[in-house]
Amino acid sequence: MKPKVLLTHPLLKEAMDYLATQVDLELATENMLLPKEELVARITDKDGLLCFLTDPVDREVIDAAPSLKIISNCAVGVNNIDVAYARSKGILVTNTPEVLTEATADLTMALILAVTRRIVEADEFCRQKLFRGWKIDLFLGQELGGKTLGLIGFGRIGRAVARRARAFGLNLIYYDPNRLSLEEEKQIQASYRELDELLAEADIISIHAPLNHQTYHLISAEKFRLMKNTAVLINVARGPIVEEKALVEALENGRIWAAGLDVYEHEPEIDLRLLKLKNVVLLPHIGSATYETRKKMCFLAVENLLRGLRGEKPLSLVE
Ligand code: GLV
Repeated sequence: MKPKVLLTHPLLKEAMDYLATQVDLELATENMLLPKEELVARITDKDGLLCFLTDPVDREVIDAAPSLKIISNCAVGVNNIDVAYARSKGILVTNTPEVLTEATADLTMALILAVTRRIVEADEFCRQKLFRGWKIDLFLGQELGGKTLGLIGFGRIGRAVARRARAFGLNLIYYDPNRLSLEEEKQIQASYRELDELLAEADIISIHAPLNHQTYHLISAEKFRLMKNTAVLINVARGPIVEEKALVEALENGRIWAAGLDVYEHEPEIDLRLLKLKNVVLLPHIGSATYETRKKMCFLAVENLLRGLRGEKPLSLVE
């Protein structure tokens, strides 16, 4: 008998078709909202779960599935899953690292450039038919060369951003609880700073950390007070790392210059005050959204799931 698997939302078609040939597959919903009660009700007889960052897999969900062997998350972040509890029950948890590093770093650069050069505002200006000719002070922005990029979180994605940023002439500083060796820092040409030092020194601050108890509201009202009033904040990691209320206030009162966001504290809700501000570029959590990367993520999530169900070691186990 094939193992029973719950897929919470559709994967890209090729991956979902393949998965359907390998397991007894149940797709919970065609759209991206799955009420928790439904997840709990549908998981009860399943051996495997393939889920997404929008699905909260907490104790209640885990306890509802006595034969569950593996939770395969189609995302690198696993803050939606109670990993410690799953592990205590002998359930494997996997994610999709590496395959999305370059796409997410590309999107970070896109946001940095969009914000500093006011691309979205200028596009809107053209669409409103307001372009009446070249002008010396039309949409002045900030130049990147010679500025300092402060990376909070210096894992795979932070370093991939660093590689790109060097080509734009940015100086690099980083904060991470795991400091690199001096040799590695020299090779990447990035210098370590304590968080508060980084916030005070950086012209552009970009977040690439996981969401956990240590990083929840890491960027609070008090931290905004440390930043330059010309600072730009970029968040492509997880919304709750930034206290969104404090961010809105900082943008509204010019405490910082601008921000670029791909994630929100109460996703998918976006604070209405953010929607009204011109000095913020807003994206709908598309960091890894390229054809190439999303295909790799889907197949990696499927492969992890199948290996876990066969009792083999998955390719990317969350330890
Ligand atoms: C996206 O945010 C991911 O964690 O993969």
